[in-house]
Amino acid sequence: MNIHVMDKFAKSLIKEAAGRIRSSFSSELVVESKSAANDLVTNIDKETEQFFIKQIKKEFPDQRILGEEGFGDEISHLNGYIWILDPIDGTMNFIHQKKNFAISLGIYKDGVGLLGYIYNVMDDDLISATLGEGAFFNDIRIPLLTDGLLGQAIIGINTSWVLPNKYLEHEGIVKLLQKVRGTRSYGSAAIEIGYVVTGRLDAYMSMRLSPWDIAGGMVIANEVGAIVTTLSNHPINLLVQNTFIVARPVVHSEILDEYVRVK
Ligand code: IPD
Ligand code: CA
Ligand code: CA
Repeated sequence: MNIHVMDKFAKSLIKEAAGRIRSSFSSELVVESKSAANDLVTNIDKETEQFFIKQIKKEFPDQRILGEEGFGDEISHLNGYIWILDPIDGTMNFIHQKKNFAISLGIYKDGVGLLGYIYNVMDDDLISATLGEGAFFNDIRIPLLTDGLLGQAIIGINTSWVLPNKYLEHEGIVKLLQKVRGTRSYGSAAIEIGYVVTGRLDAYMSMRLSPWDIAGGMVIANEVGAIVTTLSNHPINLLVQNTFIVARPVVHSEILDEYVRVK
């Protein structure tokens, strides 16, 4: 399978899907809740995933697809080619703000990330990467990340973590927030990973992300020298949900060594 052929195909699918999402604004949105009242899905999330799956299966019938909305394949192992797709990452933003949401896609072979994409639909910004060939912001090559100081860092984090919670010792997070220059929370994991790989955030962390939130971003992170692990500093397992951090190298180790204590 030629990786550049797959790349061209994936990019054209993403652009076409995004056009369909933007044109959906003129028709009425159907919003439903999934696992919790604030876990939302719309008819457009579902239609976008179905659009991808139909096109991918037509072009690459032997390849499998893991999609958030469940229209793809049941995935219990990472052998062969797998497309890992979040048709809309940031659905709450999509519904409420009509901006700050992304298409997130990673293409893996035998568990190795080959191609990664984060497409900010309303900004029309595509971050992409090919294994061993670097990462691009639209057509501009993204430079390797330089190191930074935690005291001068802006980190992407949900600040509700400073309250007692079941995942992390919150006292460490209070100290982390006192140490960094600032915090941000954009409501789309893919966009936040995109901000780290382009140097607009120095780290992004989350207590629980699914494979489709991070698969594309992980390929891109790898190409720019960002470090991705769980909050226990273990490799990510793309078959399950994980805690998650992506950061510049020194910022990554300082946050995990000094501030994060997983319960
Ligand atoms: C969510 C967003 C959000 C993150 C959640 C994800 P969705 O994805 O990425 O920023 O905090 O954990 O589930 O549901 O909008 O695709
Ligand atoms: Ca998501
Ligand atoms: Ca989603």
